[in-house]
Amino acid sequence: MIGVFDSGFGGLAVLREFLLVLPEYDYLYLGDNARIPYGTRSDRVVQRFTEQAVDYLLRQGCQLVVLACHTASARALRRIQQIYLPARYPTRRVLGVLIPTVEEALARSRAKRIGVIATEGTVTSLSFELELKKLDPEVEVVQQACPLLVPIIESGEQDWEGTTMILRRYLAPFQDGRVDTLILGCTHYSILKDQVRALLRDGQELICSGQATAAKLVEYLRRHRGLEGRLTRGGTRRYLSTDLTPRFQQLASLFMGQAIDSEVVEL
Ligand code: DGL
Repeated sequence: MIGVFDSGFGGLAVLREFLLVLPEYDYLYLGDNARIPYGTRSDRVVQRFTEQAVDYLLRQGCQLVVLACHTASARALRRIQQIYLPARYPTRRVLGVLIPTVEEALARSRAKRIGVIATEGTVTSLSFELELKKLDPEVEVVQQACPLLVPIIESGEQDWEGTTMILRRYLAPFQDGRVDTLILGCTHYSILKDQVRALLRDGQELICSGQATAAKLVEYLRRHRGLEGRLTRGGTRRYLSTDLTPRFQQLASLFMGQAIDSEVVEL
């Protein structure tokens, strides 16, 4: 199976992109809705929660886990790849969304001036900036934390007129047109894609991590035939969550684009 993890149900928007290009595999999705948000928490806590979730997915038999959560990718992925996996599951792989997203942004940006909107946790980790500069030391990066957006989306208020006001304020640093490419650096923000696009200037590119990560995953599986050969191809999907409320079910349908049945699990 391919495991897909997010702090909540926002990662379903990433899974949706995987299903478009790699529908043949079996997928196991896990959303840590009982402990969302990760974006306001310390490194230590994000690492502990993410490791528990990854451990759960690997124990279920996932050969590959993708952290759809940007905060987890920014703050916990490296430790998992460098310490946890070699000690516990040396043949399994855990990947994140940051590197595919950064590669896509650099490929699309002509001016090499890239903006990032993300949770506070992702912005303060500086991970996007570090990864962008690793690939192109000349790139200029403008980051903006948007702490109000996840609670707005979690409360189902994305269409409220106040959301546009808040977005306008968060997007102000990008409205002078210097930045030609903006990364939506949080799973939840995919829901606001059209509203964000409407506030950008003509010609400014918008990068969604789901699409970028799905395209890179296709290439990754082509290059890693051993791992690919261990993935089962039954076309099944299972959705797990650490908590379930009617609101979560509603959010799940919104991100997935269709109603889904989720099961509650304890990590
Ligand atoms: N999944 C998180 C991310 O992509 C957003 C929600 C949260 O703060 O946990 O950064």
